[in-house]
Amino acid sequence: MLENLEYIENDLSYEIYYKLRDSVGWRNFSEQQARNALQHSYYSIVVLHQNEAIGMARIIGDGIYFIIADVIVVPEYQGKGIGTTMMKRLLAYIDENVPVGGRASVQLIAEKGKEVFYEQQGFKRMPHEHCGSGMRKVIYKE
Ligand SMILES: CC(C)(COP(=O)(O)OP(=O)(O)OC[C@H]1O[C@@H](n2cnc3c(N)ncnc32)[C@H](O)[C@@H]1OP(=O)(O)O)[C@@H](O)C(=O)NCCC(=O)NCCS
Repeated sequence: MLENLEYIENDLSYEIYYKLRDSVGWRNFSEQQARNALQHSYYSIVVLHQNEAIGMARIIGDGIYFIIADVIVVPEYQGKGIGTTMMKRLLAYIDENVPVGGRASVQLIAEKGKEVFYEQQGFKRMPHEHCGSGMRKVIYKE
């Protein structure tokens, strides 16, 4: 486990967002679209090591439904428990904000092969006994 990591809440900049997505080969969005999206995060985390951003994760949500997105640890720092810590913090934040007697549905799309990472945090693969398949439609615009 690495020491001297800082976990910064709700201060995910476009520059860090762009760089971290790029570090794992994820296609980026236009600057305008990304800046707008980041402003609408329900909660975000950036992990710093020696003032360098090495991880991020964010939640989009309305208090009932939450989507976990952009969970990234840069390749040199993967496998050291940072992704797990980020996920625990995201889930703790949601848990703190669910009212007593209420409930929340936390959803995400796992990259192929990363399902176990999320199962370790209590997510269930779909379909299962209560749900059909998760579904997605991507809208492209030229
Ligand atoms: C997925 C990711 C966020 C995990 O973060 P991490 O800090 O490397 O993960 P951890 O060190 O906390 O690992 C926890 C567990 O997740 C699983 N896991 C981690 N990386 C994995 C990988 N690349 N493939 C499959 N399982 C993985 C392992 O089961 C691991 O448990 P173990 O330590 O007992 O073996 C990170 O590898 C990453 O950013 N990958 C590229 C981007 C990505 O795929 N993001 C997820 C999108 S759905």
